[in-house]
Amino acid sequence: MQDVVRVAASRRKILQGGMSLAAGFMASNSIVGQRAPIIPFNPGLMDFTPLSRADATGPWPTISSDYEFQILIPWGDPVLPDGPSFAYPTNADDQAAQIGIGHDGMWFFPDADDPEAGNRKGMLAINHEFGGNSHVLGKGDPESLEDVRLSQHAHGVSIVGIQREEGTWKVYDACGARRIHVNTAVTFSGPAAESELLQTTFGNSPLGTVNNCGCGFTPWGTYLTCEENFQGYFGAPANARPPWAATEAQTRYGFSENGFGYGWHLFDFRFNLAYGGYRNEENRFGWVVEIDPYNGGQIPVKRTGLGRFKHESVAVAVGKDRRVVAYMGDDQQFDYIYKFVSSEDHVKLRYEGESPFDHGRLYVAKFNDDFTGEWLELTIENSALSARFSSQAEILIFARLAADELGATRMDRPEWTTVGPDGTVYCACTNNSSRTVADAANPQAPNADGHIISWVDDDMHVGTRFEWEIFKLASDTHGTEESFSDPDSIYVDPDGRLFCGTDGGQQDGMNNQLLVADTVSGTVKRLFAGVFDDEVTGITMTPNRRTMFVNLQHVGNGNISRTNFPRIGDHRVPRDATIVITRKDGGIVGS
Ligand code: FEO
Ligand code: CA
Ligand code: CA
Ligand code: CA
Repeated sequence: MQDVVRVAASRRKILQGGMSLAAGFMASNSIVGQRAPIIPFNPGLMDFTPLSRADATGPWPTISSDYEFQILIPWGDPVLPDGPSFAYPTNADDQAAQIGIGHDGMWFFPDADDPEAGNRKGMLAINHEFGGNSHVLGKGDPESLEDVRLSQHAHGVSIVGIQREEGTWKVYDACGARRIHVNTAVTFSGPAAESELLQTTFGNSPLGTVNNCGCGFTPWGTYLTCEENFQGYFGAPANARPPWAATEAQTRYGFSENGFGYGWHLFDFRFNLAYGGYRNEENRFGWVVEIDPYNGGQIPVKRTGLGRFKHESVAVAVGKDRRVVAYMGDDQQFDYIYKFVSSEDHVKLRYEGESPFDHGRLYVAKFNDDFTGEWLELTIENSALSARFSSQAEILIFARLAADELGATRMDRPEWTTVGPDGTVYCACTNNSSRTVADAANPQAPNADGHIISWVDDDMHVGTRFEWEIFKLASDTHGTEESFSDPDSIYVDPDGRLFCGTDGGQQDGMNNQLLVADTVSGTVKRLFAGVFDDEVTGITMTPNRRTMFVNLQHVGNGNISRTNFPRIGDHRVPRDATIVITRKDGGIVGS
């Protein structure tokens, strides 16, 4: 009982701390947003020596003195043990059999045959978000289709079998191991699958996934990879006739003549916005893609029911009546948070051979200043949309445009979402340097360092109303040993520890870091820090939680003068890699 009281008091303190900057938004109801905690207080929740601020820097990773780490699957390592080894620069064929670059979201799928062995063996599904030409090709611009193919094969997803042998994790010869990249066959499913807006003039079959950022996983054992900044891989030659002019939708999704400068469109016309034969090709990207990590022959499925936007990650929960709910952020300054709710019990739908993601409704969030919120329906039955959009497919394909119509809350770059054991949903709003007017849910203008917002939906995730609060403002930690900025990847474990990877400039000269926060007290401890110019992302664990995997992405921004991490094989370029984290005493990671 005492614990409950203490917890409620600290919960209120967090709430008030978060609201100090939102003063004026809460005048009408000072207790809205308080929620009784459901998690029992665990005194051993975060009993480790934190890595100090002073030690969280340098060209090599650092970790709490109670922990140790190992480096696994750097970019270019073979996906199968006897595959082509890393040479720099590699070539397109070899890269298609090697781990990609830009390690980001990932999930560990334990050995399906043996639950206990699953702590030592399983499939790691890992996203390869991006790698610039100068890093991957060793030159700024591609000079041939072969160069473009190498870049394309460095993107996508790896499914790799890993197992622990004598204390060391290694790649093994798993039958489900494979690479999925920009030229892998994919298929569409759900309400927009047959839309004309997904058909090109040529009628070419859908291929590939790109800019795979965060991820998710389903209760039925599949991996979800999220296509984020897909627009940056398209372009239009300046001398195109007729010249390319962006449509309203292309503008809203950020397409431009040069994109991110990859130059794919100059050799692979699929990415040339001015080329009429591939009209609508760009609508085939921006989706959540479902992958079976155990079946190497499965064709990845783009789930149109979850909408098209710059998908950061997806957190799937099982809600009332066993309906599945998916929470998703659209990572752009002033973009939105979405959720999908299946129409029925996911077990029943799957028994009938249907995907729960193909039957349901998409919503977008409106955060009211009184700490309540509403999920606004993105359906053709919504009269606010039926005048402008002609079909459900059009609403899903141009979800951003539909959400604009509904007056959803423009957030500070919503990155990862995660659902805690008590049903609280968290979203990391990483920063927003462009904000000039604060609101309660985005209470800093500009928002230089980000915040984590949380909410609880009515009706066990399936309702259309919620109560929210600010879990943490990053700037509140500055000047203390809890200091962090730019929260990005987040994951709450079954004990209610919130792990957070950062991506952005940290205070006090620190590198990006992995933190653990007690979701009850709000206390933060630093577990690990990466290397110069990287980000820490992609948090996943074995079932017994004795092994954690995280990723170091864009290490040194590809610049060998900043770091030669991880010094395996060729030393001419730093290589993104996975980090395996264990407690020296074999305990639960984070405890
Ligand atoms: Fe790929 Fe928004 O991070
Ligand atoms: Ca990233
Ligand atoms: Ca991110
Ligand atoms: Ca980020």
